[in-house]
Amino acid sequence: MESCLVCAGSGKLLGEFCPLCGGDPDFAKDPATLHDASAAVNKVTAFGVEGEVDYDKLVDEFGCSRIDPALIARFERITGRPAHLLLRRGIFYTHRDLSLLLDDYEQGIPFYLYTGRGASSEALHVGHLVPFLFTKYLQEAFQVPLVIQLTDDEKFYYKEKLTLEEARRLAYLNARDIIACGFDPDKTFIFTDVDYMGTMYPMVAKAAKLITFNQCHGVLGDNILANIGRVMYPSIQAAPAFPGSFPTMFGNRKDIRCLIPQAIDQDPFFRLCRSIAPRMGESKPACIHSKFFPAMEGPNSKMKSSVETGNILVKVLRSESGTFGFSIDNDLTIEQVTDKTLKKQGLDLYQKVSAVNGKTVASIEEYKKSVEGVNEFSILVALLPSTIFMTDAPGMIKHKVTKFAFSGGQDTAALQEKFGAKLEVDVPYQYLRHIMEDDAQLEQIGNDYACGIMMTGQIKQICSDELTRVVTKHQERLASVTDDLVRHFMDPNRASLRFFSPDQ
Ligand code: TRP
Repeated sequence: MESCLVCAGSGKLLGEFCPLCGGDPDFAKDPATLHDASAAVNKVTAFGVEGEVDYDKLVDEFGCSRIDPALIARFERITGRPAHLLLRRGIFYTHRDLSLLLDDYEQGIPFYLYTGRGASSEALHVGHLVPFLFTKYLQEAFQVPLVIQLTDDEKFYYKEKLTLEEARRLAYLNARDIIACGFDPDKTFIFTDVDYMGTMYPMVAKAAKLITFNQCHGVLGDNILANIGRVMYPSIQAAPAFPGSFPTMFGNRKDIRCLIPQAIDQDPFFRLCRSIAPRMGESKPACIHSKFFPAMEGPNSKMKSSVETGNILVKVLRSESGTFGFSIDNDLTIEQVTDKTLKKQGLDLYQKVSAVNGKTVASIEEYKKSVEGVNEFSILVALLPSTIFMTDAPGMIKHKVTKFAFSGGQDTAALQEKFGAKLEVDVPYQYLRHIMEDDAQLEQIGNDYACGIMMTGQIKQICSDELTRVVTKHQERLASVTDDLVRHFMDPNRASLRFFSPDQ
């Protein structure tokens, strides 16, 4: 059996195109089906990223267009403000039909923004914030409505152990972080799939009828085989791209277009979505894609939110002076390690003690009781995840950056002065590219660091300071997000949302 030349694997080649994709370029070659399983590098699917990411290769294989300087200039002309730093610096780097959407916009055809998040953890990490901050800029620059889909159902289908109730709880918790990004309360609607399904269902059903099992499998791969929720799900992520999913906001209008800011790994879903749009009598949504926020471990990987679980067992001995060589605070968190052998065993700041001599300890009192009068014992401590969470305290951020951030600098000061740093692989510098506002300052730092005037320690310090600024600002905003405000954002019936159909 030969594969279709366009969609590469979703159907047999009969005649020119396979009957499933009809030759639609949105179905052009998908890495999930093109790469053979043994090619470990550069696998990006909707379900995860393995190995190093080659973003150039992705453009070619996913068949999207690059955002070039001319398009950025056009953005600035239309909106009358400088392009967002993520756009200027090439972090949002490809698109589908963005130029067409802007053409239409200039002709007076309105659009709305759609983005989403699958809540899989309590706290967001810094990388989660990036697409939302960009979406906020788009909303401000174009003064358009925004819908945000929280996919409690998706996570339920994809996480074996997650209950639907827990997925919903996480979605509501994440809604608070999203609101804290500063979206316009008059123009933003946030919903969870489980809650909003009734209203959205006509569009979901219409989408579902047009997607065959083979198309779904062709685009998303064997991941969908585990349960039929996963087979149905792409129609649920597709529906909000059509104005009919929001009748109280847009009435029956079909001429309103949609722009979807997203990380590049979401593109398979929207290729499916775009391919069915014409048959639904809808316009294809435009897409704008970002690269991933790099993980601490290296610049070409994606930051993880599922905490890297791991514990270490540390043997502790009483010294001659009577101390144990480390101290913990009332939360059982390591606050100081003075003994070298403990450090060698991996004991470090911010790790949390969970057991003594194999027995679980849940409070400082229990801990004290189990070590009383003994000269030798073992403790089980949880390793610290390297990811920077929006809940981290400044000290924790500094510690994580210092300890985990992959450096492009040289090993010694002398070598650094001589050869300088490799900026492309230096994680602290790459983080600054995502969050430091001032272009001139960033350039100066880049130049000084690349030519060896600046040391790795200095760049890590600047990076921690900038991360702390972003995280602290977020925590302040989050503290003022009330239950009432959450309810407000999740109410689809507000008059202020009837933006394009005032007489509805
Ligand atoms: N599937 C996305 C995730 O797992 C969530 C999502 C739903 C989304 N709709 C979207 C992301 C639209 C970007 C744009 O995070």
